[in-house]
Amino acid sequence: MSPFLTYAAVFLGTVGPAAVQALDNGLALTPQMGWNTWNRFGCDISEDTVVSAAKALVEHNLTAYGYEYIIMDDCWHADSRDPDTGAPRANTDRFPNGIKGVSDQVHALGLKIGIYSDAGKYTCGGKFGSLGFEEIDAKTYAEWEIDYLKYDNCFNEGQAGTPQISYDRYAKMTKALNATGRPILYSICNWGEDGPWNFAPTIANSWRISGDIMDTFDRYDERCPCTSVIDCKYAGYHCAMARIIDFAAPVLQKARKGAWNDMDIMEVGLGGMNYDEYVTHFSFWAMLKSPMLLGMDLTTMSNETLSIITNDAVIALNQDPWASPANRQWKRELPDGGNIQLWQGSLVDNQFVIALMNASPKEQTVDVEFFDAFFDQGKTYQQQPYRLFDLWQKDDKGKWGKDLGIFQGSIPNVKLGVHQTRVWLAKPAPSSSKRQEL
Ligand code: GLA
Repeated sequence: MSPFLTYAAVFLGTVGPAAVQALDNGLALTPQMGWNTWNRFGCDISEDTVVSAAKALVEHNLTAYGYEYIIMDDCWHADSRDPDTGAPRANTDRFPNGIKGVSDQVHALGLKIGIYSDAGKYTCGGKFGSLGFEEIDAKTYAEWEIDYLKYDNCFNEGQAGTPQISYDRYAKMTKALNATGRPILYSICNWGEDGPWNFAPTIANSWRISGDIMDTFDRYDERCPCTSVIDCKYAGYHCAMARIIDFAAPVLQKARKGAWNDMDIMEVGLGGMNYDEYVTHFSFWAMLKSPMLLGMDLTTMSNETLSIITNDAVIALNQDPWASPANRQWKRELPDGGNIQLWQGSLVDNQFVIALMNASPKEQTVDVEFFDAFFDQGKTYQQQPYRLFDLWQKDDKGKWGKDLGIFQGSIPNVKLGVHQTRVWLAKPAPSSSKRQEL
């Protein structure tokens, strides 16, 4: 059996769900973080696009926050494989030094490099896919010193429709990656088809749960037709950000250390949403333990965008070693449209995250009852006092996570702007003291 991708479903009874490590290649023990070319550049990529992004990531000190993978999505390819060997090769106009040349430059910056292919005849951008070429492709990626593979689902020749068929198609690449002996993070992108949350945790480090994201808060689009990912027959694309949160809700607990639900590359900084909406977006990708892949142009991003993506208190929710995604406690549909949602998650050291989202077109004022927030934990947790930290406000020293004081029973009168999310870190407090105004 391979040294890298073996299934280690060892449940250490005393330490909870986080102890189940599904895919034992030692990678993505917390959700992967980095940057991907696709949302901003689509097929228009080159060595310069990739290396400039890598340099910008380092210049902005984003490595200190955990961002480490630079992922080249679709369209790095030449028109055809090498006719003699069948090996994949890059477009030489756009990648004059080949993929190895890019990989060397990215590694020299202290970062890791990702590549894209497709478990089908062609990629979604119409380049050559890897179906039937798994071994030579994995071997070549390893020679190029690739650290990450995103593996798509277009032109799959009908090899889908049951979890077994999809599993077999994607597991071929698992096996091929294994055989290289190089640890390569394996990120499946089959848009939730056949329920990857059930079949992928033992063969991949993450799996996409839905059709492609669109840079909008909640705009409906016919091209993302499903209302739930359970039994969705056509994942589509142009899925609004808030819809992807809905999609994730029922399958969140399928995530494990090393095996994550991928809610897609983030849209933060791309311009389709405002500050509050991007804060909501970033907060949910963090709390729900999605890979945190940036998608804007790192070389031209605004200070506002930089400030969102460097909220280390929110990133800590994503990278929390307890590895437990937050759960939706309630969703209230509102008469004038939209809804409000209460989410809560367990963190390491008996800490919790509580989040309240206003997915409605009007400002809202809400009482957050600890009966609801700590419903899963029971009476003791519902009744005890907590010290709350507002993770989207800074303290006197400029650090994210303003101390709001002690709360017991509820967080009263929470005011939420349109599409705003408030996120609190809750630490059980020994005794109650005077409550502060929010
Ligand atoms: C699919 C994927 C996207 C992106 C494109 C590239 O649509 O879901 O994330 O990789 O293909 O063509």
